[in-house]
Amino acid sequence: MTKKLTGKDIEEAVNFLKNGELVAFPTETVYGLGADAENDEAVKKVFTAKGRPMDNPLIVHVSDFEMMEGYVEDLPQSARILAEKFWPGPLTMVLKVKPERLPKSVTAGLPTAAFRMPNTELSLELIQKFGHGVVAPSANTSGFPSPTKSEHVLHDLNGVIAAVLDGGESEIGIESTVVDLTVHGVATILRPGAITSDMLKGLVGHVGVDAHLTDEKETPKAPGMKYTHYSPNARVIIVQPSIDAFRQAVVSEKGNRIGLLADADILDALKGEVEASYCLSEFHNVKYASKRFYDGLRNLDEAKVEVIFVEEYQEIGLGVGLMNRMKKSSGNHFFKA
Ligand code: TXA
Ligand code: MG
Repeated sequence: MTKKLTGKDIEEAVNFLKNGELVAFPTETVYGLGADAENDEAVKKVFTAKGRPMDNPLIVHVSDFEMMEGYVEDLPQSARILAEKFWPGPLTMVLKVKPERLPKSVTAGLPTAAFRMPNTELSLELIQKFGHGVVAPSANTSGFPSPTKSEHVLHDLNGVIAAVLDGGESEIGIESTVVDLTVHGVATILRPGAITSDMLKGLVGHVGVDAHLTDEKETPKAPGMKYTHYSPNARVIIVQPSIDAFRQAVVSEKGNRIGLLADADILDALKGEVEASYCLSEFHNVKYASKRFYDGLRNLDEAKVEVIFVEEYQEIGLGVGLMNRMKKSSGNHFFKA
C-alpha cells in the first residue's frame, strides 16, 4: 500500500526520501515522482516504478538557485536571468553538470542535466528539508497521461511507491517548459509549456525551438520527446472547435464507444449521441483546458470509451504546449471534416 500523506506529514515524506524510497508530490505543473537525486539506487527505482526507458534523463528539482549551482559547471548568465524571472515556476533549464556530482541514471550519461524549482509550498518544503536535489519525472506509468491529482498517482502507482503527498489539483496541468542553455547566447525550447517563447524573448539572446514531434529514427535533443506519451487507452483524435466538425466526427465513428473532451457548447449539442463527455473548458479558455486536459483523458478512459474526440486549440502562447501534448497523445491524428 502507498501511504497518502498531507502537509502535516512532511517529515515522514522527507524520511522516505532519505531512505531511498519514492515519494510523489504535487507541483504546479503535474505531480512528480520524487527520489534522492544523489542516490543511484533510489533513482533506478523511479525508472522501474514508471516503466521508463533508462535513456530518458530526469529533472533535478531544487528549492533554490544555490542548490542548483552545486551541481552545475560553467553556469551561463542566462540561467541566472531566467531563474530570477521565472523561479519558482514551470521552467526547466538544461545545463552542463560537474562530472561525478550526479549518478549516470539521472542524466542518462549526458554531460548535461535538467533543473527546475517547482512552485508549490509542499514541494519546496519537501526539497528544502531534504537538503539536496530531488529527481522527479511525472508520477504516472510511462506513456500514460501525466497526473494532476493524487488520485491519478495512486491509480497508476499504488503499492509501487512509498507515499504520495496530496496537495490538491495541479494549477497548470501540463509539464514545464524545458529550455536548453548549453549553447552560449542561445535558449532552445525542447518542450513547450507555460513559459512561452515570447516570454523568453528579450531576456536571453536568441530563442529557438526544437520540440517537433520526432520519429523513432532521429536522436532528439530531449530524449523524452521520442516516446509515445500522454496516451490513454482510447484512440485520441483532434477535432476543429465547432459543433459541426464534432458532429461529423461522431458520425464517422458510429458503432464505437465515443468520448468527447470539448467546450460546453459542443457537449450540450452532442452529449446525447456519445457514451461519455468531459468539459475541457466552458468558453474555449486555453488556461482552463490545459489544466483539465490530462484529467479529461483519464476520466474518459475510466468510462471505457474506444475513441476520444478532443477540441483543437490555437498554437499561440500556452496553446503551443497544450497542442504539443494533444498531438502526442493522438499520434498527430486530426479529424478531416
Ligand atoms: O513539469 C515538469 O517538468 C514535471 C514536474 C514533476 O516537475 N516533470 C516532468 O518530468 O515532466 P519528465 O521526466 O516527465 O520530463 C523530463 C523531460 C524529458 O523530456 C527529458 O527527456 C528532458 O526533460 N530532459 C531531462 N534531462 C535532459 C537533458 N540533460 N537534456 C535534454 N533534455 C532533458
Ligand atoms: Mg513525463
